[in-house]
Amino acid sequence: MPRVLSGIQPSGDLHLGNYLGAIRSWVANQDTDDCFYAIVDLHALTLDIEPGDLRSRTAATAVSLLAAGLDPERCTLFVQSQVHEHTEMAWLLECTATMGELGRMTQFKDKSERRASVRVGLFTYPVLQAADILLYDSELVPVGDDQRQHLELARQLAVRFNNRFGPVLVVPEATFPVVGARVMDLQHPGQKMSKSVHSPLGTISILDPPQDIERKVRRAVTDNDGEVRYDPRGKPGVSNLLELLAVSTGQAPDVVADLYEGYGPLKADTAEAVIELLRPLQRRHASLSADPGLVAGVLAGGAAKARQVAGETYRRAASAVGLLEPG
Ligand code: AMP
Ligand code: TRP
Repeated sequence: MPRVLSGIQPSGDLHLGNYLGAIRSWVANQDTDDCFYAIVDLHALTLDIEPGDLRSRTAATAVSLLAAGLDPERCTLFVQSQVHEHTEMAWLLECTATMGELGRMTQFKDKSERRASVRVGLFTYPVLQAADILLYDSELVPVGDDQRQHLELARQLAVRFNNRFGPVLVVPEATFPVVGARVMDLQHPGQKMSKSVHSPLGTISILDPPQDIERKVRRAVTDNDGEVRYDPRGKPGVSNLLELLAVSTGQAPDVVADLYEGYGPLKADTAEAVIELLRPLQRRHASLSADPGLVAGVLAGGAAKARQVAGETYRRAASAVGLLEPG
């Protein structure tokens, strides 16, 4: 069984971009692969977040992932900070990575722009991500399109480490969904959908009630030419709606486009399809929320399984670089 690892930040709930870009594949991979999924709370420390909020959002993220279809019987769901090898491995890899390659990371450039002071953790963030991946001997890493560059770095670090210290690390492969790898903001279709306070109308949460989904899709920004055509560059707003409708109904976006004459019917059907797509998740979320003890148990079991694999890989890597066995 191929080994899979992926991670998500503990933002509390999932948006449609997370779900279509990554989590749907996580769920599907459970049937065929040996899957490890991390809620990356250490990565969240690179941003300003209240300690109490971080704790509650980590738990809420776990509930949302279970509602989305992760099954603790068929995958290992764990919290990154509960497996201390992540930070230890990150150090070995920081001593492998260069300032130049981290400085080229576009996500770092975007997040550090216009800030008076930039934290070191924001700069080394992709190295911690590489540690997440390499600790599990992951062959496949299902992610959305925005993670391409980080995944390429993880591969390069693995290759460099192996060239210097011997064949210790598995070189991972990123996988992206064919449609839905980059869900755009409904109000600003030039930007990816993200959990953003600046654009509440642009982001659909997987827990949004049907009337909110309907309103957000109806008010989605399109263009003035009135023609329904799949052309992500020329018509980003309309193409985003076509992608949402296509993935929700299991079709190709250009095929769906041929079925519509005007934006009104396209929006109505897109809203309906997204509501139906999310309905079972919302139902599961309601029943999971009624059992607060469940998540703690799932995460404790997940951390124990993750530690076994991560511990073994870390010891291999530490020994390869010449560190002594723990006394
Ligand atoms: P994050 O919430 O940033 O930790 O992202 C978790 C996963 O969702 C990653 O695999 C991202 O690539 C993916 N993702 C986040 N935003 C989007 C988006 N707008 N479209 C597609 N995938 C996304
Ligand atoms: N950086 C990823 C994001 O923002 C989250 C992440 C952390 C991740 N560690 C990972 C994704 C390991 C895949 C594999 O979405």
